[in-house]
Amino acid sequence: MSAVCFGCRYSHDDAEFRELLSHNEEFGRTVGAGSLVDVMPWLQRFPNPVRTAFREFEQLNRNFSNFVLDKFLRHQESLRPGAGPRDMMDAFILSAGKKAAGDSGLDLENVPATVTDIFGASQDTLSTALQWLLLLFIRYPEVQAQVQAELDQVVGRDRLPCMSDQPNLPYVMAFIYEAMRFSSFVPVTIPHATTANTSVLGYHIPKDTVVFVNQWSVNHDPVKWPNPEDFDPTRFINKDGFIDKDLASSVMIFSVGRRRCIGEELSKMQLFLFTSILAHQCNFRANPDESSKINFSYGLTIKPKSFKINVTLRESMELLDNAVQKLQAEEACQ
Ligand code: HEM
Repeated sequence: MSAVCFGCRYSHDDAEFRELLSHNEEFGRTVGAGSLVDVMPWLQRFPNPVRTAFREFEQLNRNFSNFVLDKFLRHQESLRPGAGPRDMMDAFILSAGKKAAGDSGLDLENVPATVTDIFGASQDTLSTALQWLLLLFIRYPEVQAQVQAELDQVVGRDRLPCMSDQPNLPYVMAFIYEAMRFSSFVPVTIPHATTANTSVLGYHIPKDTVVFVNQWSVNHDPVKWPNPEDFDPTRFINKDGFIDKDLASSVMIFSVGRRRCIGEELSKMQLFLFTSILAHQCNFRANPDESSKINFSYGLTIKPKSFKINVTLRESMELLDNAVQKLQAEEACQ
C-alpha cells in the first residue's frame, strides 16, 4: 500500500518503514482498547485506562496525519507540470487541480486527509489478512498443495501468476474466501451511531445508539454455512468447478451498507496476488520447534500472535528476482 499511495517500497530495516509499523501496532492496540467505551459509553465519565488510551489515540492520529502531510508536500513539490501520476497521491493532486470552482469532487486541501484515511484503513487489515493466509497454509498443508497444483496447471512454471489468471484459478479464490470467512479477522465493524430513532427487522433502535455489525456471527451461522468451524475452501466451488459467486458474496468482512469498506476490490486483488505468487514460488511448513497452538490478540482485528514458519523455495529465485528488479527500476519514492 505504500507503493500504491506514495510510490515507496521499503526494506524491512528502513527507519521510516519501522516507524510506520509502530503506528500500525499502536493503532490496533488503542482502537481495540477503545471499543469498551463504545459498548459501555457511561465508562467515559470516569478516569480509566480507556480514556488514557483515547488520548494516546488522538496523538497517534496526529503523528500519522503529519507523516502523510509531509508526503503530500513532497509530492506537490516534485510533480512536474504535464507529468502523469506516479502513485495515488499524485492522482488525487492532479484530479483536484483539474476541478473547477464549485464542482463536486476532491479539493486539494482534502487530499492529505483522504490519503491518510485510505492508507490508515488498509494497513492493519491487509497485514492481518496476510498473516492469516500464511497461518492457514501451514495449518492445512493439503490445502496449500491443492493451491499449488492449480497454479502449476493454470500458470505453468515459466512465469509468475498475474491478475489475468484469476478467473482460471477458482480454488485459489475459494481459499481466500474461506480464509476470510473462517478467520473473520475483522469480527465486529467500526462503530457507528444512529442519528434518529429507527428499527431493523422489528427491533427498535433509539437515536444515539452505538451500532456494530457482528461479522463473525454472520460468517459462522450454521444455517448458512454447514460445519462453520471446518476450514474447507471447496464449500465455495460449485458442481461445475467454478466459484459459487452468490456464496462468495455472502462472506461478510468488509461490512455492509453505505459506509462499507471502499477497499474491497483492491484488497481482493492484493490477497490474490500475494497468495498465488507466494504459493507458486515457495513451500510453507509449520516450524517443528514451535507449539502448534497459536494465540491471538483481539483488537480491531483478530491477529495471530508472533509465530515462526519454515519457508523454502520451490525452485530458483529467478522469476522473483526479475520481478523485483523491474519494480525497483520503476520506483519513484517521494
Ligand atoms: C482485507 C482487507 C480489508 C478489510 C477486511 C477491511 C474491512 C473494513 C471494514 C470492516 C470497514 C468498516 C466499515 C464500516 O464502517 O462499517 C472498513 C472501512 C474502510 N476501509 Fe477497509 N478493509 C480492508 C482493506 C482496505 C483497503 C486496502 C483500503 C484502501 C483502499 C480500505 C479502505 C477503507 C476505508 C477508507 C474505510 C472507511 C470508510 C468510511 O467509513 O468512510 N480498506 N474496512
